[in-house]
Amino acid sequence: MTETVFHGHHIHLVEGSDPDAAPILLLHGTGGDEHDLIQFGQIAAPRATLLGVRGTQLEGTTTRWFRRHGEGRFDLEDLETQAAGLAAFIEAAGQHFGFSGPPVAMGYSNGANITAGLLMRRAGVLRGAVLMRAMSGLAPLAGLVHGGLPVLMLNGRSDPFAPQDRQQELARQLAGAGAAVEQRVTSPGHPLTMADPAAAREWLRRWPSAGS
Ligand code: MLT
Repeated sequence: MTETVFHGHHIHLVEGSDPDAAPILLLHGTGGDEHDLIQFGQIAAPRATLLGVRGTQLEGTTTRWFRRHGEGRFDLEDLETQAAGLAAFIEAAGQHFGFSGPPVAMGYSNGANITAGLLMRRAGVLRGAVLMRAMSGLAPLAGLVHGGLPVLMLNGRSDPFAPQDRQQELARQLAGAGAAVEQRVTSPGHPLTMADPAAAREWLRRWPSAGS
């Protein structure tokens, strides 16, 4: 286990027992940190290397991945900037920690929304993504091609922080850019439930290229 600061991000790295399993990048929600989703990752991908990362933006003293103007009102310029920074971080981390290839991102809430932002701008940085309680933000770049990238969206049935129309808009945008999007309802609302890591684990097992 390693806890350090890498490229400006606090990280928590847990080495996996299977070098062939896709590394898992874990991105917390608003107010969280690099430790929040480690247990989640241990259930979802028990043999994989797990990299918990802390967002660098602050709303007062609350940690986030990008700025917002209010609840659900993203600062799209900052989202674009932070998504580019996250892509650079992932590439640097992959080289530094000797990852076998691009990681699978698993993000919750604000961590899912930055991951979605990254997927709207860049292909090839991630091997797949689990987006929990995510919604639309940035529109996809013209010509972006994800070529079957597996994306699992785990949604809340009635989520006040990720309304249905914006969940569906995100799913359409990702599918339109060629991602293989699967959606499941795993919670009555915004909080994570035990159905989330179980769904992520089952999904990972169906993508042999991602390992688990
Ligand atoms: C966001 O700002 O990313 C979403 O509203 C979710 C949240 O963090 O509350």
